[in-house]
Amino acid sequence: MMKINLTHSQIDLNTLNLEEKIAEIDAMITQKSGAGNDYLGWVDYPLHVDQAELKQIKEDAKYVREHFDTLVVCGIGGSYLGARAVYEALKGLYPEDPFKIIFLGQTFSGTYIEQVLRVLKRRKFAINVISKSGTTTETSIAFRLVKKLLVEQIGEEEAKKAIFITTDKEKGLLRPLAKEGYRTYTLPSDIGGRYSVFTPVGLFPLACANIDVDSFLLGAKEAMQLYANPNLKENNCYQYALTRYAMKEKLSKQVELFVTYEPHYQMLSEWLKQLFGESEGKEHLGIYPASCCFSTDLHSLGQFIQEGNPLLFETIIYVDKPLHDVTIEKDIKDEDQLNYLAGKNLEFVNEKAFLGTLDAHANSGNVPCIVIELDSLDERSLGHLLYFFMRACAMACYLLDINPFNQPGVEVYKKNMFKLLGKK
Ligand code: PA5
Repeated sequence: MMKINLTHSQIDLNTLNLEEKIAEIDAMITQKSGAGNDYLGWVDYPLHVDQAELKQIKEDAKYVREHFDTLVVCGIGGSYLGARAVYEALKGLYPEDPFKIIFLGQTFSGTYIEQVLRVLKRRKFAINVISKSGTTTETSIAFRLVKKLLVEQIGEEEAKKAIFITTDKEKGLLRPLAKEGYRTYTLPSDIGGRYSVFTPVGLFPLACANIDVDSFLLGAKEAMQLYANPNLKENNCYQYALTRYAMKEKLSKQVELFVTYEPHYQMLSEWLKQLFGESEGKEHLGIYPASCCFSTDLHSLGQFIQEGNPLLFETIIYVDKPLHDVTIEKDIKDEDQLNYLAGKNLEFVNEKAFLGTLDAHANSGNVPCIVIELDSLDERSLGHLLYFFMRACAMACYLLDINPFNQPGVEVYKKNMFKLLGKK
């Protein structure tokens, strides 16, 4: 169960008079008629998942787990963040599973890549290279290096059975490899990277990690059915989108701070930052997406949030039931004076930190807060949550008259970099 609490948001949706606009935009999303409509394939994708491909993904994942101890996922941006966010949110940062997922292709750091390659020399690994375009330099470089290592380890023919490609249906530099005998999964042409977590981009690595992809897709499907509703009063997803829109329009807030209370949700915040940042941040508009993990960051950025420049609002994702819990035991000496917590779980402590911080920020600090609360985070609720944000993001962009699905600004650095690198 997912609840959205707008009590601390300082926004009264009834005074905005945007119900009709919301209904109009909902029709644009459902009928795929808005700006960038050739990239609205994700909207009803949970209903149209290619079942044959899904079956293949599960079989291949089983094969990978049986024959290898590691999957190297090569990708960046939307071709990486979703899978990593879900993997870490569901498994934690130090999973017990001896089968490991290692992420590569998201950096030019020679230190990072060389250290990963050193680790891989001692592991039996398969590769999933994910790139819609097949031309993304970070991913291409990493794939070239890791493929060379794999071929050195097991030879060309065996390597073919250990490399899995996820790319555009027709276009791109990786597609021709399908003809050379590599298993290739399809990222549909009408779905962009940051909206692709429910496609093989997310599903194959997650299936390899033994994550229940059927439940994940079910959660997305349920969210799709729930939020395809033009009635603002009944639609939490659009209420969230409109509230954050009003944060900027009515309260002049420039920054949305995504807050979590679990370190293994930090990649979820990274996924959210990309989703909103690349979708909304154009034409000199948009809210800057940032993130904090509490209580860790209460000891660094907490001071700024409480009393600094009032430029931000918070969107807090709070999950009631953690993946694991620990009880604080009674200590006879009580030298650390913690016996007042004896018998209590860390879930209890974390919850009190959440409630105390909400009160401090929303009431004493006058920071508007949106709270999204979930009973627990499993495959199904996470599928629901990610779809919720994708649809809210599309709504948020259309409220600003922005195309949510392009990212023209990203090309500027690439052009300069290629010139400096001497690329023809
Ligand atoms: O959301 C997006 O479209 C981008 O973040 C891309 O996913 C990212 O740039 C990677 O592109 P590609 O999949 O073509 O390698």
